[in-house]
Amino acid sequence: MADKFQTPKGVHDILPDDHDYYTFIKKVVRHRLRQAGFRRISTPIFEATEVFQRSIGNDTDIVQKEMYTFSDKKGRSLTLKPEGTAGVVRAYIEHGMAQWPQPVELYYVEPHFRYDRPQKGRYRQFWQFGFEVIGETDPALDAQVIKLAYQIHEDLGVADLLSLQINTIGTPESREKYQMALKDYYIGKERSLCEDCNNRLHTNPMRLLDCKEEDCRILAQLAPKMENFLDSDSKEFHEDLKDFLDGMGIKYEENPQLVRGLDYYTKTVFEFWDAKEGAQNSVGGGGRYDGLVELMGGQPTPAVGYAGGIERIIANMKREKIRVPKKDNLHVFVVQLGKDAKLKCLPLINKMRERGIKTMGAIGKDSLRIQLGIADKFETPWAVIVGLTEVREGVAIIRDMEKGIQETVDFEDIIPSIIKKIGDKSLDKYSPGELIY
Ligand code: HAM
Repeated sequence: MADKFQTPKGVHDILPDDHDYYTFIKKVVRHRLRQAGFRRISTPIFEATEVFQRSIGNDTDIVQKEMYTFSDKKGRSLTLKPEGTAGVVRAYIEHGMAQWPQPVELYYVEPHFRYDRPQKGRYRQFWQFGFEVIGETDPALDAQVIKLAYQIHEDLGVADLLSLQINTIGTPESREKYQMALKDYYIGKERSLCEDCNNRLHTNPMRLLDCKEEDCRILAQLAPKMENFLDSDSKEFHEDLKDFLDGMGIKYEENPQLVRGLDYYTKTVFEFWDAKEGAQNSVGGGGRYDGLVELMGGQPTPAVGYAGGIERIIANMKREKIRVPKKDNLHVFVVQLGKDAKLKCLPLINKMRERGIKTMGAIGKDSLRIQLGIADKFETPWAVIVGLTEVREGVAIIRDMEKGIQETVDFEDIIPSIIKKIGDKSLDKYSPGELIY
């Protein structure tokens, strides 16, 4: 026998039972964001590598270690998107969205790719929902973005399990002063730092603050604090943000060590942490990125956004035994005997489906007993049975699969009888909406 294939390391299939979660989450995201005026965008799965290098920052772990970068046949360097913000900002500039009414509010639900070390909650392909508000600066917007993220988690039943961490990392100028102070503090302490932090000390010293290694964490506790280097505008912005969060009754923890792993942030940064697992598996994160549009070649344009990790949210939901509605359970299995019965059943099946009765069957040449066994395996509550006698007499048998009780109805009465049994509410009615000509 030939070797069996498996998914590559760190990626996985989304099987139907898991899709119930993805579908539900997408629905919640779409609903909440649409209520707040957001419209959906999809950027390509891959972009020019430079798009990510310039935005996320050359000295970040993502760009240094985690990108899937490859050359196309013409030698152009391309990269599978490791996150969504860079592509959205590239699209904002490329499509002249500065001319649209501001702020431009966009959301996405997309797969992303990072060559991360696979472990629980950390995959090489993962889904994020994210949303970005581009074109306006106001701490009230940061508060609204946080509120929306909170509301989505609330709708998904996981909000109470999360703790919201917030911080401000000021402007690039105030950050530069802070980075110098951090370097001064850490120089001479290199031997207590992990290898990664030793490298980061010279390229990205703020990342030392959120290292998860024990020794690095102890040193970070005593390191200089950003608040002593903040410019007055950032300070005031942060105070306003906290007032707005308080005003909406959103609880948060101020975390001066929260710096995020992407370089484009200014002022507000925030993350939702799993209250049980802490920083290790943040469920989502975001912040303000007032310099990014300009850095990517557009006019100076402020922005703020958030992205949540769908796999991590699902893991939380499952851990807390939160289930989502199942939409693909069948209502009816049609059992037929002989070609004449099949001929009658095929149009019936189509009609049933059109009315929203989820139906399978009219296949194979097996005996009645075997076909009923198949219906049982698919867990359909009802079977419609059409044999030669039924064809001749223009009737069908409807069988309650659980109770094993049967009744005979006229062929025309099958659909109304089934709808009466399963209830109008459980029908899977499909309405694509009106086309406009
Ligand atoms: P991020 O913190 O890099 O932010 O990612 C957001 C979320 O994506 C994480 O909190 C996590 O739930 C999920 N995630 C990241 N990497 C993985 C992985 N390897 N496996 C599973 N889940 C993962 C951003 O991506 C920013 N673009 C967020 C943002 C939007 N900032 C402003 N606007």
